[in-house]
Amino acid sequence: MFWKARTALLACWLILSFGLCEDSDKTIFRDIAIIGGGASGTYSAIKLHDQGKSVILIEKEEVLGGHTNTYRDPRTNTSVDYGVMVFHDQKVVKDYFKRLNVSWVITRPEFGSSTPNYLDPKTAKSIKFTNPDPTSALVAYATELSRYPKLEQGFFLPDPIPSDLLLPFGKFLEKYPGIANATFLAFNYGQGLGDYLKQPALYVFKNFGLDIIRDIASGFLIPASGNNYEIYAHATKILGSDVLLKSVVVDTPRRDEDGVQLIIRTPNGTRKVNANKLLITIPPKLENLNKFALDRHETKLFGKFMNTGYYTCLVNNTGLAQNFTSYSVSPDTQLNIPNLPGVYNIVPTAIQGVFDVKYGSPSTLPDSYVKSEIISYIKKLQAGGLAERVSGEPNFVAFKSHAPFELTVSPDDIANGFYKELYALQGYRNTWYTGAAFHTQDSAMLWNFTRAYVLPRLSD
Ligand SMILES: Cc1cc2nc3c(=O)[nH]c(=O)nc-3n(C[C@H](O)[C@H](O)[C@H](O)COP(=O)(O)OP(=O)(O)OC[C@H]3O[C@@H](n4cnc5c(N)ncnc54)[C@H](O)[C@@H]3O)c2cc1C
Ligand SMILES: *[C@@H]1O[C@H](CO)[C@@H](O)[C@H](O)[C@H]1NC(C)=O
Ligand SMILES: *[C@@H]1O[C@H](CO)[C@@H](O)[C@H](O)[C@H]1NC(C)=O
Ligand SMILES: *[C@@H]1O[C@H](CO)[C@@H](O)[C@H](O)[C@H]1NC(C)=O
Ligand SMILES: *[C@@H]1O[C@H](CO)[C@@H](O)[C@H](O)[C@H]1NC(C)=O
Ligand SMILES: *[C@@H]1O[C@H](CO)[C@@H](O)[C@H](O)[C@H]1NC(C)=O
Ligand SMILES: *[C@@H]1O[C@H](CO)[C@@H](O)[C@H](O)[C@H]1NC(C)=O
Ligand SMILES: *[C@@H]1O[C@H](CO)[C@@H](O)[C@H](O)[C@H]1NC(C)=O
Repeated sequence: MFWKARTALLACWLILSFGLCEDSDKTIFRDIAIIGGGASGTYSAIKLHDQGKSVILIEKEEVLGGHTNTYRDPRTNTSVDYGVMVFHDQKVVKDYFKRLNVSWVITRPEFGSSTPNYLDPKTAKSIKFTNPDPTSALVAYATELSRYPKLEQGFFLPDPIPSDLLLPFGKFLEKYPGIANATFLAFNYGQGLGDYLKQPALYVFKNFGLDIIRDIASGFLIPASGNNYEIYAHATKILGSDVLLKSVVVDTPRRDEDGVQLIIRTPNGTRKVNANKLLITIPPKLENLNKFALDRHETKLFGKFMNTGYYTCLVNNTGLAQNFTSYSVSPDTQLNIPNLPGVYNIVPTAIQGVFDVKYGSPSTLPDSYVKSEIISYIKKLQAGGLAERVSGEPNFVAFKSHAPFELTVSPDDIANGFYKELYALQGYRNTWYTGAAFHTQDSAMLWNFTRAYVLPRLSD
């Protein structure tokens, strides 16, 4: 399809030379148009750019990064990551950081203090709970995981699909009680899965995999600056005018074997994009794709996705002591796994008086509702004496909704080959896919998946 864009360019140049190509400056000709500038889309843009492909990266927010959120305190110039925190100690990460000129360190992160408060997410009252030593349970968990080594690379499922993978995780834990003592750790590391005990074990396995267990023992990789936005700031600079921020697709007049035409809205007005291929990296929910002219087959597949909600924020004026840390546990659930929607945890940040609060839900909730629930929770902490009473309301220094977060389908759909059909969409109508719904909520794993399974076939 290369020649098509080339021919169009040439035609436009010829017309332009005679002063006739009125909107030549409005049409963007590229090899590949990429939708979504989070972890997967930004990585794809850099790799394709380095392979000599022309790309355009279309991102709806005002910065690249997606789930990577960094707040800079204007008073002290301290940066706090309240979205993506850590990366794997893997070659793909180091190669990418080298390319972006981001230096790194290996660290074993402290997830809050060693003596946190364990609180009921409903009442914000203390619950008697002992965080079990997970060591031997992690070994038992890893033994089960290692039966499915290809899951670490993508949704590469055995055929037929083993029934263990389809069990609600709570039932899986009843079948393998030796794993129970790792559940609290896995739940809190892999936040965002919604109703954890009801999710098919498959999604828990993908969310908390073997490589994470290795990194918990040996250390994760983070930028030496302690500022994850550095990755995206450098990528933005390298990509230059190939990045369109605050821009969205509003129509797709064409998407087939002959190429892709998009109409996009940018802060500078409406533009046409003519690309040979399209790479979609945003969560493929129907409401996110309604401007992409889906056909019946695509609509049927993407229409099966359900999603959880995951929210992160920085809050001040709380009355909490600087060393306050809490994790939610429910008094009356299996292994005390908290009932959601509710707060996951509260941890202090490097900015005095500012706390990081994570909130989860089995489905999307309005931001205003989540904010009011978080404020009411902090007021319960004050009323219960776990925080001091302060004048005025707790204040959101920053707030991000990451809904739709985890995309899942029912056990029946998994059993009936959903992921085979989903993967078979690669290349269909000149459209390619990567991003968490196609693999897992994990930047490093997505970079490796994109590198190994998506880009080679997209760029040949
Ligand atoms: C609070 C939180 C903490 C996390 N911590 C970690 C961690 O420590 N380590 C880790 O590896 N992973 C972590 N994750 C998981 C994280 O989801 C993945 O690492 C990764 O960011 C997912 O990448 P993605 O490309 O699928 O999606 P995203 O990074 O979300 O990228 C999607 C992008 O598409 C944009 N977009 C959406 N719709 C449109 C549209 N219609 N048009 C244009 N653009 C659009 C979005 O704005 C976004 O920039 C965390 C996630 C959250 C929410
Ligand atoms: C803030 O910190 C960044 C590094 O994180 C540095 O590059 C920048 O110059 C600092 N700005 C000010 C105003 O000190
Ligand atoms: C890479 O980073 C180092 C230190 O942060 C800086 O001195 C150097 O100029 C950077 N190189 C490029 C090519 O940006
Ligand atoms: C889980 O840990 C507790 C103590 O932390 C221990 O008493 C119990 O035996 C462990 N359970 C299993 C199944 O290993
Ligand atoms: C809009 O146009 C201005 C001036 O030409 C340019 O600097 C800016 O980068 C453009 N913004 C976008 C999103 O294209
Ligand atoms: C927090 O600090 C106070 C003193 O400021 C101390 O009494 C308390 O034990 C500390 N709590 C934790 C969990 O470290
Ligand atoms: C909280 O943060 C806001 C900025 O978002 C700031 O104006 C305010 O002074 C802070 N309040 C406290 C009590 O630190
Ligand atoms: C990266 O992908 C390749 C190709 O699938 C695979 O062999 C390798 O194990 C992956 N690396 C990690 C750390 O998962």
